[in-house]
Amino acid sequence: MTFQEQIKQGIPSVLPEPKPYPSDANRAPKRKDILSADEKQLAIRNALRYFPKEWHKELAAEFAAELKQFGRIYMYRFKPNYELKALSISDYPAKCEQAAAIMLMIDNNLDPAVAQHPEELITYGGNGAVFQNWAQYLLTMKYLSEMEEDQTLHMYSGHPMGLFPSSVEAPRVVVTNGMMIPNYSKPDDWEKFNALGVTQYGQMTAGSFMYIGPQGIVHGTTITVMNAFRKVLEKGESPKGKIFLTAGLGGMSGAQPKAGNIANCITVCAEVNPKAAIKRHQQGWVDELIDNMPELVERVRTAQKNEEVVSIAFIGNVVDVWESFLAEDIFIHLGSDQTSLHNPWSGGYYPVDISYEESNRLIREEPEVFKEKVQATLKRHADAVNKHTAKGTYFFDYGNAFLLEASRAGGDVMAENGIDFKYPSYVQDILGPMCFDYGFGPFRWVCTSGKPEDLDKTDAIAADVLNKIMADSPEEIQQQMQDNITWIKDAKQNKLVVGSQARILYADAQGRAEIAKAFNDAINRGEIGPVVLGRDHHDVSGTDSPFRETSNIYDGSRFTADMAIHNVIGDGFRGATWVSIHNGGGVGWGEVINGGFGMLLDGSEAAERRLKSMLLFDVNNGIARRSWARNEEANFAIKREMARTPKLKVTLSNNVDDDVLSNLDF
Ligand SMILES: NC(=O)c1ccc[n+]([C@@H]2O[C@H](COP(=O)([O-])OP(=O)(O)OC[C@H]3O[C@@H](n4cnc5c(N)ncnc54)[C@H](O)[C@@H]3O)[C@@H](O)[C@H]2O)c1
Repeated sequence: MTFQEQIKQGIPSVLPEPKPYPSDANRAPKRKDILSADEKQLAIRNALRYFPKEWHKELAAEFAAELKQFGRIYMYRFKPNYELKALSISDYPAKCEQAAAIMLMIDNNLDPAVAQHPEELITYGGNGAVFQNWAQYLLTMKYLSEMEEDQTLHMYSGHPMGLFPSSVEAPRVVVTNGMMIPNYSKPDDWEKFNALGVTQYGQMTAGSFMYIGPQGIVHGTTITVMNAFRKVLEKGESPKGKIFLTAGLGGMSGAQPKAGNIANCITVCAEVNPKAAIKRHQQGWVDELIDNMPELVERVRTAQKNEEVVSIAFIGNVVDVWESFLAEDIFIHLGSDQTSLHNPWSGGYYPVDISYEESNRLIREEPEVFKEKVQATLKRHADAVNKHTAKGTYFFDYGNAFLLEASRAGGDVMAENGIDFKYPSYVQDILGPMCFDYGFGPFRWVCTSGKPEDLDKTDAIAADVLNKIMADSPEEIQQQMQDNITWIKDAKQNKLVVGSQARILYADAQGRAEIAKAFNDAINRGEIGPVVLGRDHHDVSGTDSPFRETSNIYDGSRFTADMAIHNVIGDGFRGATWVSIHNGGGVGWGEVINGGFGMLLDGSEAAERRLKSMLLFDVNNGIARRSWARNEEANFAIKREMARTPKLKVTLSNNVDDDVLSNLDF
């Protein structure tokens, strides 16, 4: 059968043979054995809904075995035989181009070069799922191949509920992931309802098909590291020879060494999983691999002495590095952490002093012991960080719930008021005030032809547009504009592409819309093929997350999730090709609501109308909210936007003076 025939077929008419598990795959950790016997039966009953009755007996036994062995039913034997990767848009069998674009993006999220646990349909973050099982993938692709341009596919946590009649202007796909009744949003609820096969953790761009490999995060990480150094160094002092110590070489965290190189420092990045470290080294994302402490110490001293720009992966536990650098008196300028602490009990964070394999055994067989070890390690981790910061290290939380989990573990990370943490999050100190409040965020695009030449042309178009905008931009945003121009000019030589021909670029509302329009014009002139626009959910407006994206909102509203919901609804009726809304991105299930969109530009007038309407709202919804929360930079940005856009009228805050509030009788 050809690739196209396999897609159109969906679930095969003949039961496929069971498949051997690929020996080189990075398998997802075994999930918690959380279901009662009755619930296990229900999980199998649920899974069998996808298949004809004649197969039920054979599959029931197989799914029971998967549930027992892995804690989930992935339906491995239904994984298609073709290679999963983003092909050219014209290779997909589809009745409408928008559907073909979505297929391309789905396949990219499952490409083994891009995805963390591709066999388990996990793109990043340990649990960021595109689908819960392979039957959902097969059915979704079939629906997309049949879809006409006045139909919408509604997807419930990976499950394609069906194609519904809609209109040409409506989104082609609406995705929800992990939407729960609020009281059922504890970590164990995810374990239970995911094991039952009725919900999934979509993370952010995993469940919305918008993940583009670690490049997506390199840019934001570069901006963060560069600006963090600007905070700690004297003006004109270079980051060369200065250490940035962090952990994690996974899906997103793998971007850190590359960003460190672009920011010109020495990056030491610890990673306990040798497979993850080796993968990033082979991909050229980290320069050197070291697996023992004496060698690491010696190498770092040499790099400091020679003021090198180098990134080093240490295969081992990050706590050992923090402690050893203290004992060896190695000064760390910047410190952070990107282990997956949003998912601490099932493999997101590995305890010190026991092997990686032993940890994985404990997760499976003695979860309570594992939890104790994680919490003891977190306390040690926090202690070592505190000792370094006492000597002058600038430490920031990287939005992975490190401070949250360290505090829950009893680590000494709370500020004196007992409410805030001792250390800022990178959003509070850096990305929030310097980028999001002005509307700068991780805009991205994918050239659906799959041609590197198209990507080169879009890079050049974007640089040209930014240069023109910069000429008239106010002082307040000149630094961001310049950083982004430098980024886009160097993007090709930094070899950032893994998977689809994609590019990330921080831009504000004006930049995004003007770049998108210039792309649409180039498509119309036949210079490039169609382009998918999107963004990380980790952006100005897409995400309500009190410990990350909205951590610099101080009017009390950071624990509300209205902004993300308005964003997804507003984008939906302004022309997005697909929209998605999720519970549980980077910082954990129940801790965040986040959403995103995808939009296909095909060079048409309709695409121009949609991009203008949707991108304006997509960014300014968040700026309006940030401005209402009294964030000065956002107030500046929304006033500027209202001056540019007469139909935009936003409620502005009248800020009270402190002395009015100081002697009130409550
Ligand atoms: N990059 C960013 O800009 C960014 C932004 C916000 C949040 N985050 C957060 O960062 C976290 C990491 O994301 P990811 O996609 O890379 O996850 P991931 O699970 O793919 O990678 C985390 C890595 O950390 C390693 N690890 C765990 N414990 C360790 C320890 N004690 N010492 C050394 N290594 C250890 C794991 O083996 C794993 O490879 C997530 O919580 C994510 O939400 C990243």
